[in-house]
Amino acid sequence: MKSMMSLSRLLHSQASLQRLHVVPASGSGRLRTTDSNKVDEPLKVPEAETVHVPPPPTEKLLVLGGNGFVGSNICKEALDRGLSVSSLSRSGRSNVNESWANNVVWHKGDLLEPDSLKDILKDVTSVISCVGAFGSNSYMYKISGTANINAIRAASELGVKRFVYISAADLGVANYLMQGYYEGKRAAETELLTRFPYAGVILRPGFVHGTRKVGSVKLPLGLIGSPLEMVLQHAKPLSRVPLVGPLLTPPVSVNAVARVAVRAATDSVFPPGIVDVYGILRHGQQK
Ligand SMILES: NC(=O)c1ccc[n+]([C@@H]2O[C@H](COP(=O)([O-])OP(=O)(O)OC[C@H]3O[C@@H](n4cnc5c(N)ncnc54)[C@H](OP(=O)(O)O)[C@@H]3O)[C@@H](O)[C@H]2O)c1
Repeated sequence: MKSMMSLSRLLHSQASLQRLHVVPASGSGRLRTTDSNKVDEPLKVPEAETVHVPPPPTEKLLVLGGNGFVGSNICKEALDRGLSVSSLSRSGRSNVNESWANNVVWHKGDLLEPDSLKDILKDVTSVISCVGAFGSNSYMYKISGTANINAIRAASELGVKRFVYISAADLGVANYLMQGYYEGKRAAETELLTRFPYAGVILRPGFVHGTRKVGSVKLPLGLIGSPLEMVLQHAKPLSRVPLVGPLLTPPVSVNAVARVAVRAATDSVFPPGIVDVYGILRHGQQK
């Protein structure tokens, strides 16, 4: 109602302005009007029309891997913030029996076949990818790397504004044991920074804790993760010790990861680039 009244006022004032012929005054650089000294007849202003202004477009977020552990927490956080949320993964709808899951649009698709992504990306303003997996080195490279690279390329070609990738912190010696996983992560990061230099954000958590559902069992990872996070967040210098230091990287809660990811995906002043564990802890404390 308020906006219709302002619009009506604007139409009135524009009609009045059209009646004034503005010419530059010689030399002074000021403007004067041709009818400045006239006593005006009452202005005949036509009735203002009612114009239907569409509501502002809502942010549309696509979560890749929205049915996983981190992804489902991101979907919940984004819904709480009033975003319109969809998810894509090979198995589609999450099997959680919670009401928020009814408010997500669930798509089935495989990022290794990126054509399926094209329709889903239409009108999407930002993407958060939580796609990753464990297995053989070549499989881990394919999912952490190739699948995400496909998604980043499709998103940039279809005009998505912001892209957030959930990557992983270096874990020193563990990197050698999971070479495909880390090489895939770094390849996807490089693609993201190339395709989205001003609006690509990479989160690099170490161990993520929270309640993880495995089948019908709920694993309370926070029981180990929370106390470790409390202690290790103050031991940053230790994490710089070569090889074993990275194993002392503090865990972060899945809620903090979700909060930072959604902010990074929707806040145009969130700085692009890499957010390490300490950055996630810091940003995660902000409401
Ligand atoms: N959890 C941690 O402690 C931790 C720590 C550091 C980094 N991270 C990173 O955070 C991200 C999320 O981890 P998470 O623990 O939430 O993993 P998760 O529960 O296993 O979720 C992975 C998601 O990826 C989807 N996915 C896998 N391959 C796909 C494909 N080809 N196409 C489409 N979707 C695919 C899976 O769904 P479908 O199987 O239905 O396709 C699932 O939704 C991963 O990238 C992981 O590397 C996790």
